[in-house]
Amino acid sequence: MNYGRELLKDVEGYVPGEQLNRPDIIKLNTNENPYPPSPKVLEAIRALTDDALRKYPDPVSLAFRSACAERYGCESADWIIAGNGMDELLSLVLRTFVDPGDTVVATYPTYSLYEILCALHGSPLEYIDLDDDLQLAEDMYVARGRLCFLTRPNAPTGVAAPRADVERLCESFPGIVVIDEAYADFADDNCLDFPARFPNAIVMRTFSKSFSLAGMRIGVAIARPALIREFLKTKDSYNMDAVSQAAGLASMQDYDWQQENVAKVRATRTRLRAALIERGFDVPVSQSNFLLAHWAGEPAAKGIFEALRERGILVRYFNARRLTNALRITVGTDAECDALLTGLDAIIGDAGA
Ligand SMILES: Cc1ncc(COP(=O)(O)O)c(C=O)c1O
Repeated sequence: MNYGRELLKDVEGYVPGEQLNRPDIIKLNTNENPYPPSPKVLEAIRALTDDALRKYPDPVSLAFRSACAERYGCESADWIIAGNGMDELLSLVLRTFVDPGDTVVATYPTYSLYEILCALHGSPLEYIDLDDDLQLAEDMYVARGRLCFLTRPNAPTGVAAPRADVERLCESFPGIVVIDEAYADFADDNCLDFPARFPNAIVMRTFSKSFSLAGMRIGVAIARPALIREFLKTKDSYNMDAVSQAAGLASMQDYDWQQENVAKVRATRTRLRAALIERGFDVPVSQSNFLLAHWAGEPAAKGIFEALRERGILVRYFNARRLTNALRITVGTDAECDALLTGLDAIIGDAGA
């Protein structure tokens, strides 16, 4: 008998622990930052005293939230909740604002975790397809539900909906609109001002991408204090450990470090996109730290994904509608991207442009 739930989580993009640190594997499949976090983060972790580990951490992560409030232009920490990665906050937003059975709305395609969280919560998820340009379709503005997830820039497309479209969505949607800004630091603009302008807007951020801290699990949500108060009622008492609070605070205090890494990733993104297009891929302009590369030639995208994996280069393949002819490639260092291109040249040979 199977006592567990059916395995919902798609583990295709993940690698077993022992492979994670193998220097011969080029890991371009889960959108991590190829550059290290600020040295100030390690200093802050090393500076933690025995007491910091012996005692429970601050349950409301006040110092970290205050630093985020200042950086993100909020009046006070009352506008922010911090959590154990953004994934925790995504599940918390359902527990806090959605009853099982209530409809949740999202674009298709989008971040695949929403579907899993809704299934676990017992809420039907209504997908509304993006249009052919990977932009929001008109149906989005007549959608009804308790909550809407909008990833901006979107994953796995990398495309950012214009801010005006997100404004229209916040105005037309009757429930909460979660604007998932996991990748916004790599974009030209963001929606950090939306919570002040729209009572139903919640912006979420992760420190896994631009701050190079995926191993720590740090995320924040920004919303009006009335919504944050509801979140605080449903979160675990100590949902952010002392080490993560110290690391998050230190990374905020060394914001220039993150900005320099973001600039490097953006420059490599431009170069990699051009190189992929030159090889015959169709690659929408990305505002993220990854590219969605569509491929119509031989071998098929899945074959390229497998052949790259044999060479120790991991990219992401989705066995899902509208995505089977595409690879999602994280922007790595210049050297990693060169290795990827060399691998691609060997696999696709003359099949490209
Ligand atoms: C769109 C999107 N939202 C949220 C997350 C989760 O971020 P975290 O690592 O903070 O849980 C990811 C991670 O890949 C993501 O792609």
